[in-house]
This record gives sequence, C-alpha cells and structure tokens, in this order.
Amino acid sequence: MHRTILVASAVLLFGILCPKPNFTQDKNGSAEPKMTPDDVARKNPVPTSPEGLAVARKQYGYDCAMCHGKDGDGKGDLAQDMKLELHDWRDPATLEKMTDGELFWVISYGRGKMVGGEADRSPEKMRWNLVNLIRSFGKKGAAAAEKPKTENPQP
Ligand code: HEC
Repeated sequence: MHRTILVASAVLLFGILCPKPNFTQDKNGSAEPKMTPDDVARKNPVPTSPEGLAVARKQYGYDCAMCHGKDGDGKGDLAQDMKLELHDWRDPATLEKMTDGELFWVISYGRGKMVGGEADRSPEKMRWNLVNLIRSFGKKGAAAAEKPKTENPQP
C-alpha cells in the first residue's frame, strides 16, 4: 500500500520536475531590441565570395530553409505549417528596398514570427555571409558561380 503511494508520488514529482520543451520561455516582448537608423545604415564589411556563400548556405540549410525555403522562395515546411507569408527572395525586387544593415539586423535579432536570431549563435562574419547568400537568391547565375567548377577551362 505504502509502496503504491510512494511510486505514485514519485511519478507525479517526475512529471512536475521534468523539463518540458517550453517555447514561451524566452518570450519577453519588452526586451526585444530595436533597430536604429545606424543599424539600417550599417555597411556590409564582408564581400561576397564563393567560400562565404558556401558556409552560409550550409547554416541556412539547418536554421533557415525550414521557413524561408531552400532557394529563398519563402515556402519552407515550417512556414507552411505556421501559415507564414514570407517574401520570395528569388525576385530581386523583394529586397531592393532593404539595406544590408537591415537584413543583418533581422538575422541577428529576429523579427515578429521569426523569433530570436543568430546573434548569440553565429559570429558576425557568418551573419554577413547569410546576408550575401540571401541577396544571391535574387541574382541569376550567383548560385551557379558558387558551385565548385567541375571543368577547368583550358588555359
Ligand atoms: C520560424 C520561421 C523562420 C525561421 C526559422 C527563419 N525566419 Fe527569417 N523571417 C521569418 C519571418 C516570419 C520574417 C518576417 C518578419 C517580419 O517582418 O515580420 C522573416 C524575415 C527575415 C528577413 C528580413 C527580410 C524579409 O524577407 O522580411 C531576413 C533577412 C531573414 N528572415 C533571414 C533569416 C535567416 C538568415 C534565417 C536563418 C538563420 C531565418 N531568417 C530563419 C521567419 C523565419
């Protein structure tokens, strides 16, 4: 009898103490950082390079493609599930009005339904590389330039 109660309370305690995935944990709206005009005007110090695009693409595949889509079309699985209306970055007009500084800021801190950002996870250089990658989605031929060449043109 005692045993049953003991086991029952142990199970109960376990249920209470066991950490559950809690997505509201970080939800602290007032602490959300604000984008300043300086952020918007910030210049991208990292030039686009095949290497930079390649490392960014890898990270993008893990952290971003589920929402923004593998090629930036905004139709990732999670975006569909969450019914997010995301921009289609393949159209160069989409991001024309946003500065690199703005993109960098959103990547760093998130915005709206894009909760959190990469600021704590990725070095600045990686975040600028992500900006370059996102820009490249709207440029025809950039994706091809990033792939390692299979043939070397004869000198
Ligand atoms: C949970 C889905 C989700 C994930 C994951 C996500 N985003 Fe977003 N992202 C959004 C949403 C929603 C917006 C629009 C935010 C707004 O303006 O309200 C957005 C906006 C942006 C913007 C601003 C330009 C625009 O189209 O509005 C950039 C740049 C961006 N995301 C980059 C990234 C990068 C890089 C990653 C991966 C490190 C990422 N996002 C991961 C949902 C997501």
